[in-house]
Amino acid sequence: MSTETTIFTRMSALAEETGALNLGQGFPDEDGPAEVVEAAVDALRAGHNQYAPLPGVAPLREAIAEHQLRHYGIALDPATQVQVTFGATEALAGAILGIVEPGDDVLALDPTYDAYAALVARAGGRLRPIVMRPPAWRVEREAIEAALTPATRVLILNTPHNPTGRVLDRSELELLAEVAREHDLIVITDEVYEHLVFDGRHIAAATLPGMGARTLTISSIGKSYGLTGWKTGWATGPAELVGRVRGVKQFLTFGGGTPFQHASAVALRLPDRLLHEAAATLAAKRDRLSGALSAGGFDVLHTSGTYFLSVDASEIPGVGDALELCLRLPHEAGVVAIPMSVFTADPDGPARSIVRLAFCKRDEVLDEAAERLVAWRAEQG
Ligand SMILES: Cc1ncc(COP(=O)(O)O)c(C=O)c1O
Repeated sequence: MSTETTIFTRMSALAEETGALNLGQGFPDEDGPAEVVEAAVDALRAGHNQYAPLPGVAPLREAIAEHQLRHYGIALDPATQVQVTFGATEALAGAILGIVEPGDDVLALDPTYDAYAALVARAGGRLRPIVMRPPAWRVEREAIEAALTPATRVLILNTPHNPTGRVLDRSELELLAEVAREHDLIVITDEVYEHLVFDGRHIAAATLPGMGARTLTISSIGKSYGLTGWKTGWATGPAELVGRVRGVKQFLTFGGGTPFQHASAVALRLPDRLLHEAAATLAAKRDRLSGALSAGGFDVLHTSGTYFLSVDASEIPGVGDALELCLRLPHEAGVVAIPMSVFTADPDGPARSIVRLAFCKRDEVLDEAAERLVAWRAEQG
């Protein structure tokens, strides 16, 4: 159903077959903070090993409410306005399956994280892309107007944005909020990279005027703390929308991952310094990979957040499109990358020649990957 799943499976197989360095999928190759890992060990030893309550364990729901208040000034009732999920993925599934009705049109920024299209299709809705164009990937009024239809009921936002690395600014969010108010849309905002911002500032969509009452905010522990395998996520917002997620989750997984829920509560209550350090480390990795690739003749697009940067391959002689290039690179350069075209409704559109690379890897891996890519680039003329 999802092309990205196909390409990831294909690329991982290629990485294994060729021994290529994998800058495809976005997960760090180092552990998150030691005190958070220890908190999970403590939770296991303390006997938190049975089902969690459906809404999530109380300490985590309280820690999530504190997090939203501390970072964004959003006050939440941990009982009714916070739902713990199995990663942001389950929160997205609960939100989309619980909110989108057959025949609904759903707006989403394009390029688009692949789960949205797959889930909207399962709910019987239709994804309508708000096309963003490289190299700036800005949200423009005309693109929103082109995507709107009389059947539009939901807007899915994602900032910081995967795959482009854009952090939407206040003017773009105000524009989107204006459209949401005018068309009475429910907004689902995926903010899993909220703490991984290198330039500018993350603005939570729910903080814009008129948005709190219509916005369901989704995030998770995985990206912020470099613990993607923990799959502890959450949805917060108006009790009615949180209830929709809860209703779907009840028969997807009910409540589990209990020790990780307790440890995630500990993580969210650690000093914010840890988050700032994680962002600074990633910013240095972005600069390391992006600097080496630019010096080696690649056209690197600027990225302000997330785990990803991208490269425009349109000027490289002999390269048709990014998909074809990504199928060649493991064999020819020993590096796995992902074509941006798999994240878009129009693979022949503006993202056709763009390649996405994950920089959340050890410095040695980034250096080796950059060296291989630059050597390959030099051979292309
Ligand atoms: C934009 C976006 N949303 C959601 C997810 C999934 O998050 P989780 O691992 O918490 O399920 C990812 C993971 O790559 C992502 O990039």
